[in-house]
Amino acid sequence: MKWVFVLLLCVFVFDVVFGYEVPPAKLEALYPKGLRVSIPDDGFTLFAFHGKLNEEMEGLEAGYWSRDITKAKNGRWTFRDRNAELKIGDKVYFWTYVIKNGLGYRQDNGEWTVTEFVNDAGNPVNPQDGSPVVAAPLPSPAPLSVSSDQNQAYSEPAGRAIPPNIQYPCELSLSKVNVPGFVCRGQLLFEDNFNSALERGKIWTPEIKFPGEPDFPFNVYLNDRNLQVRDGMLIIKPITLESKYGEDYVRQSLDITARCTGIIGTAECAREASGPQILPPIITSKITTKNKFAFKYGRVEIRARMPIGDWIYPEIQLEPRDHIYGITNYASGLLRIATIKGNAEFAKKLYAGPIMSDSEPYRSFYLQQKQGVDLWSRDFHNYTLDWRPGSISLYVDGEQYGAVSPPAEGFYKTASENNVAAAAQWLRGTVMAPFDDMFFVSLGLNVGGVHEFADAPNKPWTNRATKAMLNFWNARDQWYSTWYDDSSALEVDYVRVYAL
Ligand SMILES: *[C@@H]1O[C@H](CO)[C@@H](O)[C@H](O)[C@H]1NC(C)=O
Repeated sequence: MKWVFVLLLCVFVFDVVFGYEVPPAKLEALYPKGLRVSIPDDGFTLFAFHGKLNEEMEGLEAGYWSRDITKAKNGRWTFRDRNAELKIGDKVYFWTYVIKNGLGYRQDNGEWTVTEFVNDAGNPVNPQDGSPVVAAPLPSPAPLSVSSDQNQAYSEPAGRAIPPNIQYPCELSLSKVNVPGFVCRGQLLFEDNFNSALERGKIWTPEIKFPGEPDFPFNVYLNDRNLQVRDGMLIIKPITLESKYGEDYVRQSLDITARCTGIIGTAECAREASGPQILPPIITSKITTKNKFAFKYGRVEIRARMPIGDWIYPEIQLEPRDHIYGITNYASGLLRIATIKGNAEFAKKLYAGPIMSDSEPYRSFYLQQKQGVDLWSRDFHNYTLDWRPGSISLYVDGEQYGAVSPPAEGFYKTASENNVAAAAQWLRGTVMAPFDDMFFVSLGLNVGGVHEFADAPNKPWTNRATKAMLNFWNARDQWYSTWYDDSSALEVDYVRVYAL
């Protein structure tokens, strides 16, 4: 008891007496152009500057200027933009941070107004011609206004990415986000509770395209009435193409180029039916954070109710942002956070985990399963994927049901044994490759396709048949009656991503 007390006291005294203050950043407008931001070196290992000109920063956004500086020069850590064109009276809004002794410190809500220009040496010069100001120096620059309250809460950041749940200094996490710099251990990196309308484009980008390779699902993604936020839930429902465009529309053409998020000029944005090649007969939706939030390593928690209905399956997953190991056949990986197949016969089986190939046997090689007592579509559950540099673990309602670790040689080993073409690419990465780069969150719904459902006697199409989609559609009398209005929808209550 005494020891703990003494220890606590020490920490307290240390904190008060030696509580570390990061030196404030010095901002300078260079003549004829340029912005220089610097702090004196004090044993830092990283300095980062994020700023915007004449526009306030929205929370923790990266900003127009956004850079990590990894080395001090001449005793200072310096960010420099040689092309910045500043005028007297311009305002720079910024935040900075440093890492010292393995702890992260931030300075928020910085504001600085241009009152003079300086030369490279930092001496004031005339803004007209750059000549040295000798006789009558301009009044000294306005003092920096850097918030010294390092625990200050930010205003709600646009996009709700990276809300504050952290005090500084903090221990650094292994997790990375698309905003440069460090994140703190356990930090909430992303949260959406779907309590307000989808701010399209701000956090989520709805896909508008005909999905194709590698699974060729039988649906088109539109941003339509089947995608809703209602009563604090994201709701994605499958509807038929006919219900929107009219009877037998599968034999017409559909050109969504004007709004398409796929590759313009390809079958992702325009299709024309031709004989057995019909249009995708189902409309679904998919939203992703790819333009706003991506991360590497962390824990994703999603509370959702699975859809039920024949040949429906949800996409609750992480997708690679940059496809550094290739685009085709899941060469850069896919992380399923939770999925079921919506047919009543399959819907008690939850499965999730890493996918690194479009086709079997390797597609399901690492997928983890949990047989439920009830249908997973009956209730909401907390589905969690924990992604670390050595493992990927899966949980439902707090119970772990699976974990995947790469072989010592990396996933390359098992993949090459299974003739996966992309395997050789992963040798460029860590043993976790392809799961060692930035991934974004995606939520959607698919129907059918040529990989997700194994061929079986009661399945209306075979995966290799050229008429797969047509055969599926022609058999609608068998499956459409299993799609009930509410239960065929995917409902998501929240998405949260935490740093490790
Ligand atoms: C969801 O499950 C994860 C993993 O088991 C757990 O850490 C977390 O606390 C759960 N979240 C809620 C809100 O129950």
